[in-house]
Amino acid sequence: MTTPMQLIISQEAISQRIQELGASISEEYGQEPLVMVCVLKGAFIFFADLVRALRIEPEVDFVRLASYGAQTSRKERILFTKDMEVCVHGKHVLVVDDIVDTGHSAQYLLNVLRMRGAKSLRVCALIDKQERREGDVVVDFSGFVLSEGFVIGYGLDFAERYRNLPAVYTLNADHSAGKK
Ligand code: IMP
Ligand code: MG
Repeated sequence: MTTPMQLIISQEAISQRIQELGASISEEYGQEPLVMVCVLKGAFIFFADLVRALRIEPEVDFVRLASYGAQTSRKERILFTKDMEVCVHGKHVLVVDDIVDTGHSAQYLLNVLRMRGAKSLRVCALIDKQERREGDVVVDFSGFVLSEGFVIGYGLDFAERYRNLPAVYTLNADHSAGKK
């Protein structure tokens, strides 16, 4: 049985938007010291394409976060399952995520990086689900804004599958039921 899915962001639209984001980020930071942090796993493909669209040479690093507790609960606990290796003290930091949804995981990461002395903190996300935001996280460089639906492909998974799809699709509601 084939999985019911519907294309919502094509490969061409993604690659064009990434060129625009790369130009904006390059212009924003210029020659200032910059660390770009890829939030694993979902952002791995977006990050790889984005850094190649830059005209500047940032340091790159990777983190992986895990959240525990009911996804509906505000008492959800977030922690690193892979921390950074590059020191961010006194440097501009740009967090690159796949999707900022409620904003809880981005908020946690930004707080940690602030405590570690980042000179400035901004967020870039392929997809900004603005309407679902619960905290005050702002996506400074956003690829696409989506209001609803569960999406897969281009790094985004459902139960660890579909990350390899070259474009972004919505998954049929029956398949995504119960996933945030
Ligand atoms: P937040 O803490 O609620 O902002 O969680 C954001 C994370 O949830 C993203 O980085 C994704 O890993 C995951 N996520 C949220 N929405 C989707 C989706 O539609 N498809 C795949 N993963 C998603
Ligand atoms: Mg993620």
